[in-house]
Amino acid sequence: MAWIVKDSANTQIDRRTEPYWTPKLAKKFEEDILPRYATKQAALLPCVHEVQHTYGWVPHQALEEVADFLDLSFAEVIDAVTFYEEFKLEPVGKYLIQICRSISCELCGYKELSKKVQNKLNILPGETTDDGKFTLLELECLGSCGTAPAALINETLHEDLTWKQLEHELNNLPD
Ligand code: FES
Repeated sequence: MAWIVKDSANTQIDRRTEPYWTPKLAKKFEEDILPRYATKQAALLPCVHEVQHTYGWVPHQALEEVADFLDLSFAEVIDAVTFYEEFKLEPVGKYLIQICRSISCELCGYKELSKKVQNKLNILPGETTDDGKFTLLELECLGSCGTAPAALINETLHEDLTWKQLEHELNNLPD
């Protein structure tokens, strides 16, 4: 089996002039968050969570700024962040549909649900519709195994899902 090697060394980072890690965020973390941790490095995940909550995703530029803020290397930051699929390193649609693909949901039909969403929106998992409205992801256990299949639409958990319910939800989300 061949290993697939990512060409990370040639990653192009889109940049904007204004920082993502703004002086306001830095001040908030210096005053309220960093004092709770023994080291600055320990506050890495809270910083990245803040970026994602603020912007809806985690731009590479923001990770560079967080690395500077915490006196870490960019490699240390990207290493930690890419371990968690929760962090979105690409922009996502207004509605993020995340369907659980772990064992209980697999047994209860997640594949069929995912396939129907893919057909309806004409996207594959990991893709966003052209209008930027929907992103579809498949992810590991949502902790709702007893009520599988389960999916998140943005922050809302939907359990015991049927296609009829999911289609109804999707059809009724405002633009
Ligand atoms: S397996 Fe799907 S929520 Fe746990």
